[in-house]
Amino acid sequence: MKYFIGNWKMFGIPKSINILNRINSFYSKDKNKNKYKVVITPPYTLIETYSRHFRNKKINIGSQNCYQLDQYSSNTAAVSSYMLKSVGAKYTLVGHSDNRNEGDTDIILNNKVKFALKNNLKVVFCIGENKIQKNNKKTFSVLTRQLTKVLEKKFNKNNIVVAYEPIWAIGTGKIPTFKELSKTIEHIKKVLKKIFKSKSPEVLYGGSVDGSNIGMFREIKQIDGFLIGGASKSSKKFIDIIKNYYR
Ligand code: PGA
Repeated sequence: MKYFIGNWKMFGIPKSINILNRINSFYSKDKNKNKYKVVITPPYTLIETYSRHFRNKKINIGSQNCYQLDQYSSNTAAVSSYMLKSVGAKYTLVGHSDNRNEGDTDIILNNKVKFALKNNLKVVFCIGENKIQKNNKKTFSVLTRQLTKVLEKKFNKNNIVVAYEPIWAIGTGKIPTFKELSKTIEHIKKVLKKIFKSKSPEVLYGGSVDGSNIGMFREIKQIDGFLIGGASKSSKKFIDIIKNYYR
């Protein structure tokens, strides 16, 4: 099963649901629909209405982040996994580079993953190296550290999906080469196998994925799906990615 996950970031108001309605009608008629899952992570403000609207449909609604503490706390503007679950979220991203930039440390991320799993959210754990780390050939060591400092053997690996998003590829139109990406995905799966002492969780790729470059990604069979930012804000662009993937 492949994943096509749309990360809307700071985009969307109630009527933006039309984008999802169009994706849903494509999906329900698509002959390949049993081969993949669609997840969209709108901003917090839309999670409840969208989850309700798509409750019995194929589109899954998730959150872009969750707070590091369980249930309730006196932290202004914080939203916990418990609260997200209560309004219908099924997934949450954790560790997106935007949030790491804003101060998410490995300890904070470990708590976020722990409480998201406890509240029965499926976690999409994002990792990735920056340009300097890549140029200094530190990609593998950075990714190993990001994985081993946060994920624990006791976590339910069936509810974790890892998204490899090189920071230099996010929103830039730049993507790794076939060779770089194949090797990196292989490395991530190897580290995950070690952490969980068993088969690794699924690994996605994210960073400037669009309808024109998806063909290259399709050739790397170990990739279990995609985390899509910019192109997920347009139903046409998002659908084109899926269509071209199964072409
Ligand atoms: P992008 O964003 O597809 O616009 O590069 C990906 C992400 O930030 O998850």
